[in-house]
Amino acid sequence: MTPDLMQEGADRLAAYQLREAALHTESGGRNASLARPVIAGEVDVTHGRILYLEDVHVSFDGFKAINGLNLDIAPGELRCIIGPNGAGKTTMMDIITGKTRPDSGTVFFGSTIDLLRYSEPEIAAMGIGRKFQKPTVFEELTVFENLELALKTHKGIAASMLFKLNGEQKDRIGEVLHTIHLADSVTRQAGLLSHGQKQWLEIGMLLAQEPRLLLLDEPVAGMTDEETVRTAELFLTLKGKHSLMVVEHDMSFIDTISEKVTVLCDGSVLAEGTLAQVQADERVIEVYLGR
Ligand SMILES: Nc1ncnc2c1ncn2[C@@H]1O[C@H](COP(=O)(O)OP(=O)(O)OP(=O)(O)O)[C@@H](O)[C@H]1O
Ligand SMILES: [Mg+2]
Repeated sequence: MTPDLMQEGADRLAAYQLREAALHTESGGRNASLARPVIAGEVDVTHGRILYLEDVHVSFDGFKAINGLNLDIAPGELRCIIGPNGAGKTTMMDIITGKTRPDSGTVFFGSTIDLLRYSEPEIAAMGIGRKFQKPTVFEELTVFENLELALKTHKGIAASMLFKLNGEQKDRIGEVLHTIHLADSVTRQAGLLSHGQKQWLEIGMLLAQEPRLLLLDEPVAGMTDEETVRTAELFLTLKGKHSLMVVEHDMSFIDTISEKVTVLCDGSVLAEGTLAQVQADERVIEVYLGR
């Protein structure tokens, strides 16, 4: 076997073990024999970072969309990312979630998991949840059924055919419903929810899978002011239990939820600090906030 094939084999084995571990987290001893006991939800954060990007580059037809990007996020942190259109914010999320492969650079989940070695579904199974801008709930199903499906899908297709919710999972759905303010709408068809409620339901579908890290791309776009306020409250309750990366253009929303803000421009970090600090930065005013 060539070294490449051996590496590929080792990667596949590791991915298989990860998936199995994700399926059997309650099984205790069943994981004991794994050669590399990486268990979903047990990301090594002893170095104080849940996500670490170093010198990441990606070009599309010669255009440098990500250009020497360095960024790290602490466990439980709620990090806000702002920056002009085309800065590379969505592309950065594509790289973290395995949708886009960078040309070069380092991308780690915790201090041991090299994300560049895994596929998009494997990365999701490891505990990185992603929310795209447009809500993608199943409109014809009820709120409850959407959440149930999120748990099933997470179990993999074969497992989902045999899957019945156990008491713990029902409790989990109840907890999520409460968190996303939809406990009164359990039997409601998702298609009848408001835009904001659909966004919350989709966040709930991610939460049902108990992600360690949540990536949220423009979560309050199109929401009413009231929905935006409630979303800010929701994110503040998620902080600490999960790590969050939130991309938004809505500055009053950022002001409500943010601790540390990263400004992306031309594919790399232009400034980092509190919102007040970056808002006072001349370069940020020049490229993004305007005078
Ligand atoms: N798959 C792709 N192929 C070609 N170009 C791409 C691809 N993905 C992104 N780009 C380009 O990379 C640049 C960065 O895009 P990206 O969507 O990451 O920006 P953004 O910061 O999310 O902007 P916005 O605030 O408008 O959402 C843009 O110029 C975009 O056209
Ligand atoms: Mg974008």
